[in-house]
Parts: sequence; structure tokens; C-alpha cells
Amino acid sequence: MQVTINNIAYSLSDLEKDIWNRLVNGAVKSRDSFHTPSVATHSGNDISLRTVVLRKAVSESKELRFHTDTRSKKWQELIVNPSISALFYDAADRIQIRVKGRAVLHFNNDITAAAWQKTSLSSRRCYLTNFDPSSFTDHPTSGLPEHIEQENFTLEESEIGFNHFGIVSIQVQNIDWLWLHHAGHRRAHFDYVSEQYQWMIP
Ligand SMILES: Cc1cc2nc3c(=O)[nH]c(=O)nc-3n(C[C@H](O)[C@H](O)[C@H](O)COP(=O)(O)O)c2cc1C
Repeated sequence: MQVTINNIAYSLSDLEKDIWNRLVNGAVKSRDSFHTPSVATHSGNDISLRTVVLRKAVSESKELRFHTDTRSKKWQELIVNPSISALFYDAADRIQIRVKGRAVLHFNNDITAAAWQKTSLSSRRCYLTNFDPSSFTDHPTSGLPEHIEQENFTLEESEIGFNHFGIVSIQVQNIDWLWLHHAGHRRAHFDYVSEQYQWMIP
């Protein structure tokens, strides 16, 4: 059983490979529509949703990564409950991908050290606020000291940011794929826990 998209016929396993190609592209290309997924976490009995930058996608290990401040709410929420979901939509190709998985939190280890080395000065600013992210203030501010806001600091001075630098690794458990098409939508489910790939009614 196959689905034909742009004259290419895809089996379920072809589709699964295509999904990971798209995710890998999303991680490496800053203008790709898969570069900035929405990521949902549990916040007590509530839900919490935000945009992040997809930094890495590894097909072999079914892993997605993004960077964040370990003082952020999402990090604290994931410590309590590692259930996580990510949402991607490519408006040009009309493909939605919904990912569910478990978050593995990396902090102060080889993985964060290697990623931190590659982080630009301007990205490092995110980890250099004196106050915790989400703190309320009495005036609009980035929370950064003036010289840091103006990027007037050295790489050495930015090293302190490593103390707040965390990587969330999503260990993907399943993917829900949806393709919108005027002649009939198509949907498929890829479950890595039960190792089942199935077509679905959209
Ligand atoms: C385009 C875009 C990319 C973002 N990328 C990240 C990111 O990679 N990591 C991150 O922690 N926050 C990122 N943010 C900010 C988050 O959406 C969010 O506002 C912030 O992290 C606080 O979320 P929290 O309170 O749920 O922890 C991004 C926001 C936008 C608009």
C-alpha cells in the first residue's frame, strides 16, 4: 500500500524515512519550516506550549534535540514529568508531524559541553541573564546587563552561561503524520515502542 506525493510513491517505511529526512533538514536549515516546532509539556494539571529551535535530529536513535535554560519553566516541568510532544507543519508541502516521546535532560555533561563549544556569542546571551527566565519585572527588559545586551563581552566572559545551558533530548516514541490533499487527505502512525507502522483515517 502506497501514497503518491509529487509523483513519488511512498510505502509506510519510505514515508518514515522521509519524515526523518525532513526533521534532519529542519535541524540544519534555519529557514526550513521544521526549524521551529512547538513543544508541549505538562505543567501540573495544566499544559504548556512554546516555540523552540530544533538543533538536532537523529534518525537512527529516533532523537530530537533543542537547547534551553535550565532555570526555565519547561526544564523544571520536564524534571517532574518527562512526557513531551512536538508539532511541526510544512505549509508548502501541507505536511503536519506530531511527535510524542520522553525527554532526557542533559546538563553539564559531554553532550552539553560539545554543543556549548559550537554556540555563538549572540546565542550565549540567552544563558547570561541575572534573573531566572519567567521572573516578573517592573519594567520591560531583556534581563541582561547592558554590555551583554550590546554583545560587548568576550567568549571567556560568556563561559558562565554554561551553568544554565541544558539540552532536551526527545526520545521519540511515536509519530503521527498527516498530509493534506484536495483529492483526499492521508494519515499514518509510526510507533517505535510497539514497532508498528499503520495507515489511519485522517
Ligand atoms: C522562533 C523562536 C525560537 C525559540 N527557540 C527557543 C529555544 O530553542 N529554546 C528555548 O528555551 N526557548 C526558545 N524560544 C522561547 C520559548 O518559546 C519560550 O518563550 C521560553 O523558552 C520560555 O518558555 P517556558 O516558560 O515554557 O520555559 C523561542 C521562541 C521563538 C519565538
